[in-house]
Amino acid sequence: MTNHTPTPDRFPARFTWGVATSSYQIEGAACEGGRGPSIWDTFCATPGKVRGGDTGDVACDHYHRLDEDLDLIASLGVNAYRFSIAWPRILPQGRGEVNAEGVDFYNRLVNGLLARGITPWATLYHWDLPQPLEDEGGWTVRSTAEAFAEYAAVMAEALGDRVRHFITLNEPWCSAFLGYGNGVHAPGRTDLADSFAASHHLLLAHGLAVPRIREHAPEAQVGITLNLHHAYPAQDTDADRGAARRSDGFQNRWYLDPVYGRGYPQDMVALLGEASPQARGLVHPGDEATIAAPTDFLGINMYTRAVMEDAPGDGWLHARQIRPEGSDYTGFDWEVAPESLTDLLVRLQEDYNPPALYITENGSTYPDTVSEDGTVHDEGRTRYLESHLAAMQEAMGRGAKVRGYFAWSLMDNFEWAEGYDKRFGIVHVDFETQARTLKASGRYYRDFLAQTRAAVGV
Ligand code: FCB
Repeated sequence: MTNHTPTPDRFPARFTWGVATSSYQIEGAACEGGRGPSIWDTFCATPGKVRGGDTGDVACDHYHRLDEDLDLIASLGVNAYRFSIAWPRILPQGRGEVNAEGVDFYNRLVNGLLARGITPWATLYHWDLPQPLEDEGGWTVRSTAEAFAEYAAVMAEALGDRVRHFITLNEPWCSAFLGYGNGVHAPGRTDLADSFAASHHLLLAHGLAVPRIREHAPEAQVGITLNLHHAYPAQDTDADRGAARRSDGFQNRWYLDPVYGRGYPQDMVALLGEASPQARGLVHPGDEATIAAPTDFLGINMYTRAVMEDAPGDGWLHARQIRPEGSDYTGFDWEVAPESLTDLLVRLQEDYNPPALYITENGSTYPDTVSEDGTVHDEGRTRYLESHLAAMQEAMGRGAKVRGYFAWSLMDNFEWAEGYDKRFGIVHVDFETQARTLKASGRYYRDFLAQTRAAVGV
């Protein structure tokens, strides 16, 4: 049984404690500083794609409030900050000429973090693909993977003397499936085979980028962040166990297996049939070896679990996710399932044995209200955070090599297709005034981190 309260004095002294954000969700300044358009600018400008017609044009205006936000991060007592770099700020055309003003922004960000004693964790791709590359086919074509490797080399060269942690991709499952499969995210394309073509080119992009980053930033640790959730059978039957296994194949193994040198899972290749990138000749000889480039850590974004039942004839997966009764749910209708984080971490360690695991995102959305005292008493989020820290600690006790945790998110921001409607921050943002206010969950996290430091005397 998981203990629902983490014990601050049982974390290693060098544990990484952070908060996370991404470029398109917070920066704004979409047409400033030489930034080119991304697929998210185009998607947001397409009527009906994003709730309320919201866009990332201004977002948290972080681009103009960098110093204030760096002070805010420092005030939490975290020792790391995970941000993403907007590819279209660096290479407005996707490749070719580098925009020095874009590089300068991230130089200021990195220097500002280091000056405050905070370790920068840079994600190279958190979904804002330069539009000119999408115009050439986006992630469904191989040349985008090659362009990514060039961009990764540019950033490793620019920041590698100071940035020691690079994440190639954030959640390629989302880029591939939400972007090209069900079209809920940019670029909004809807073709199963295209989404799997995209998944292969994303993984290839990762594999091509790893050695380029190492070449320019030899001291840096390099990894990938996947969105993983543990899949359970609805009933303890062979049929439902099969459904859970297929869900795990789609969401988890399709990415983990090739990254950890096993190649693509054959059961999934068979299930996809004609829609598989293999059947379409997109997986070239040597690609799987490229994707298996050794990495230093695995980044895990975890929000919920999947409880699956067998559903013959339901889509290509023949499986359906059910909504267990009696559970708590966050504002996205995602089940709160901290024990599944323990199961996931232990399973990852046992099955793939990564050198280190980092939770690069974990968090919750609730319909926050600002009280008369001006603060947000977000008890649900506080409890979510507390129970997931406890679940992580439980996994560590069971042998999972977890080395860090990043709360999603530093502050409320542009939540993709949901616009500004869904708030995930431990800091509240008033999008009219851009005022930032620490929520109760933020105070909890700050105080918890202070306790972990006091326990080890730092
Ligand atoms: C993840 C994304 C992140 C954020 C959270 C809620 O899938 O990586 O940008 O939107 O979900």
